[in-house]
Amino acid sequence: MKFELSSQSSDSFSSELLLVPLVLQSDAKQSSKSKKSEKGQQDLAKTLSARSVKELKTIDSKYNGQITRKLKALEFTPGPGKKANIQVVKKGEATPLIVRIACLALPKLPTSEIPSEEWRKLGGDLKQAVSGFGAKTATITLHTVDERLHEAALKGLVEGIELSSYTFDRYKKAKQTKKSGLQAVTILSGKRSKSLREIIPNTQAIVSGVALTRDLVNTAPNDLPPSQVVAAARKVASESRGKFRARIYDKKGLKRLKAGSLLAVSQGSDEPPFLIHLQPGAKKRGSNGLRIALVGKGVTFDSGGLSIKTGGGMMEMKCDMAGAACCLGVARALNNLSRKNPLKHEIHIVIPTTENMINGVATRPGDIIRASNGKTIEILNTDAEGRLILADALSYCESFKPDLILDFATLTGACVVALGSDYAGLFANNESVRTAIERAATTSGEPMWALPLAKEYRSQIDSSVADLKNISTSGGPGAIIGALFLQEFIPANTPWAHIDIAGPAFWGKSNEYTPAGGTGFGVRTVIELLYTLEKSAIR
Ligand code: BES
Ligand code: ZN
Ligand code: ZN
Repeated sequence: MKFELSSQSSDSFSSELLLVPLVLQSDAKQSSKSKKSEKGQQDLAKTLSARSVKELKTIDSKYNGQITRKLKALEFTPGPGKKANIQVVKKGEATPLIVRIACLALPKLPTSEIPSEEWRKLGGDLKQAVSGFGAKTATITLHTVDERLHEAALKGLVEGIELSSYTFDRYKKAKQTKKSGLQAVTILSGKRSKSLREIIPNTQAIVSGVALTRDLVNTAPNDLPPSQVVAAARKVASESRGKFRARIYDKKGLKRLKAGSLLAVSQGSDEPPFLIHLQPGAKKRGSNGLRIALVGKGVTFDSGGLSIKTGGGMMEMKCDMAGAACCLGVARALNNLSRKNPLKHEIHIVIPTTENMINGVATRPGDIIRASNGKTIEILNTDAEGRLILADALSYCESFKPDLILDFATLTGACVVALGSDYAGLFANNESVRTAIERAATTSGEPMWALPLAKEYRSQIDSSVADLKNISTSGGPGAIIGALFLQEFIPANTPWAHIDIAGPAFWGKSNEYTPAGGTGFGVRTVIELLYTLEKSAIR
């Protein structure tokens, strides 16, 4: 998508559609209904912010009051989320302009809340509306909005438009042509600041990472065995101009690492497993940077193994590498961002990747294996395989002594039962890490909800014959049990967070800016976190 930031006023543009966001006065929510019944007609000026009223008047005067007249004819009354499309024609011009009015309830200024989700949705929804009208160009005026909000607005709009433009047609004969639909967007803001100008390319860089994550998750599992996850990681490294170096452990390497847990999961598959480590190239962390490990579950297909899933339960299990895909999406975003925005932290990406299948030598429930940190595990359910491969990946992190480990995994169906498909489960052994992630997730519109690493339940993974068993056999709280199991493999005293993305990684539904399928969940939060996290914040 072509974006242009312009400081022009709203009379000198040549788009087919003009989006006018109208900011509701903060007391308008309660008052709009009663006022309507009192007067039968809404007085726009009373419910909208002064800037919005002024800008609406300016535009309207260029169209001889057609906007107000048409809004009245539609009996349009401003209210949260309300929208209207009207067509107006300028004197002496033949082509009509579509004016799209959209009301926004924003928090009162000054505020610490960054209301980007509203803008993201507006952007996504604009992209769809424009295509509906068969238009290709749109202008969005921010002259209706307090300038203190222009950064958040611009970021949200660009993000919403770009994220909603994603399509996955690898397997379709008829490819979507890039020539139809919205092509160019001009955003009007009188604010002149460097940070505002940089938002467009930076946001596009981040979305390029989200798109990679979505592509990998959407790819059919027959086309994405573990070796293809390796290929994707190598590609990201090769595009990084030396920022990342790919170190790949194959089966032999895994044996040398004594990664018995990852090897046990892979043994039922004809596809070989790998441990991928994207290491930093030459540049190491500065004195005020952290060494951060991003670990992602990379099960390219989860049949459940001998503890086999039902047909329905298996249907979407190509998404079981979404944690790995999230990490690679972050790496791509960093590649595209960091030339102009140097990151002070040192990033390592660690991905255990395998299939979870069944053959004559597949792991049996009852098998006891040894993970690379020396702990023995009694595998009682082969479908709890994510924690098994992560056990070796998390232990591996010890080799480079990270200051912080974040893992992303489609780990448990129980987390989906608890939080549904919008919220990820967030577990952390460190309060400031948890708070920082919660803040980044909220800013990014990727909701996460903290769940406890409840030590009360830890004994449920004690085994009578091994150090651990991989499930609770007393019906414990599944998402927490999974997290407690992972905690056993975190190097001593290392701040760590586990994000269970089983719900939000893959959607049967869509929203304004997320098509159904792989959502790319996690990439935007990690980028937000990496660029805002201070070393001093981790205690
Ligand atoms: N990959 C699944 C979890 C999952 C479920 C991801 C739904 C996405 C959507 C995981 O490997 C699994 O099967 N977990 C088991 C654990 C159980 C056997 C303790 C589960 O959740 O049922
Ligand atoms: Zn499983
Ligand atoms: Zn799984």
